[in-house]
Amino acid sequence: MEKYVIIGGNRLSGKVRLSGGKNAVLTILPACLMSKGVCTLYDVPRLSDVFVMIEVLERLGAKVEFYGNKMTVDASQIVSIEVSEHLTRMMRASNLVMGPILSRFREVKVAYPGGCSIGSRPMDQHLRGMKALGAHVTERYGYIEAQATKLAGAEICLDFPSVGATENLMMTATLADGVTILRNAAREPEIVDLQCFLNNMGARIKGAGTDVIKIDGVKELNSAEHSIIPDRVEAGTFIIIAALTKGDVVIENIIPEHLEAVIAKVREAGVEILELNNNLRVTCRKQIRGVDIKTMPFPGFPTDMQAQLMAMLAVSEGTGVITETIFENRYKHVDEFRRMGADIRVEGHVAIVKGVKKLSGAYVEASDLRAGAALVTAGLIAEGVSVIGNLQHIDRGYEGLESKLRDLGADIIRVEDINGK
Ligand code: UD1
Repeated sequence: MEKYVIIGGNRLSGKVRLSGGKNAVLTILPACLMSKGVCTLYDVPRLSDVFVMIEVLERLGAKVEFYGNKMTVDASQIVSIEVSEHLTRMMRASNLVMGPILSRFREVKVAYPGGCSIGSRPMDQHLRGMKALGAHVTERYGYIEAQATKLAGAEICLDFPSVGATENLMMTATLADGVTILRNAAREPEIVDLQCFLNNMGARIKGAGTDVIKIDGVKELNSAEHSIIPDRVEAGTFIIIAALTKGDVVIENIIPEHLEAVIAKVREAGVEILELNNNLRVTCRKQIRGVDIKTMPFPGFPTDMQAQLMAMLAVSEGTGVITETIFENRYKHVDEFRRMGADIRVEGHVAIVKGVKKLSGAYVEASDLRAGAALVTAGLIAEGVSVIGNLQHIDRGYEGLESKLRDLGADIIRVEDINGK
């Protein structure tokens, strides 16, 4: 158990280059299972979630080589169609192998992912879609099993634009017979990246990025090369860190169109953001103002940026109101912010954040990945020393966070836990 020790107050400046997107790679790695050839991926972030997904792929029989940020996946010899509870508990996204394995082998068995720290996360939309494509699905003894003698294209309308269900169903339909139309699909950039990768392998998919995706089934998929899109949540986190530290930071390798809702809100709060091709320069000289946000599916404000934005509102002028509409229990960071002196009231899905002049350093613990990033953000501007525990959450999704922050001038070190203190 390691911790970050941060001495707040430094103004950050310089350049930071984004890593490849965690959520993009977590759907593209399972997609490799559908290929009979060797797939080569670039810009793969070295994150603990990625290492868990590698373990999932290897247990199924794939051969994975990972050097630097390049990865090759050879799924020509799959030996198992089952993912154990140990792995689905370690990472919920391991359910994303369901679509690929079902599609290629017509059967799959995955331990039920269960809830997580941000709320219960059912799989009903995934399973309803698989049934519509012809799979027989059973849920028993903690496992979901899906089998199909034949998978046939169908019209599916999701009740809610679930990211994971859209990805799983796109992959299931890819090797089905005939045409599938997926309506009310999620529109996240990671889904466009998945479409691009699947089409590189020989799939025939159109429409990702809109709410109607058309998948024309093909017989098989082959080798492909692909570069993972930059991580838009890492980008948003650095935008807020640059602004709050009154810094001057150039964020490299960014796709601004993936962050329009975040950029618009941060600008509304008074932060200056300049777009220069694939770079973004963030500066902030004025007092940041409170703004209101409501988390929504893409292109709305992402739930994965809610906690970081709360860190910003905690020290803004006036009051900001956050409405979380995606996850039912995503305010666990509030108590930790309060330890640092923040003035936040939560009523159901709404958090009312009254800006204070200064946060003060404290011992706090990350309850999940983005909450952890938000606490680091708060630590960077707090007076005195902050210690952030439960770093394993942050390591799931931020590649080299402390070295990137140190390069920008932050005073942050990672220390071993001593006697559990
Ligand atoms: C993905 C992202 C996660 C992000 C989330 C929302 C990955 C690996 N993770 O998670 O970082 O926070 O999108 O942008 O890409 N739901 C159902 N039934 C279902 C599926 C989902 O009710 O069958 C509900 C969930 O409980 C949740 C909401 O839909 O309330 C959003 O979930 P979903 O879009 O599926 O998120 P994930 O794909 O799990």
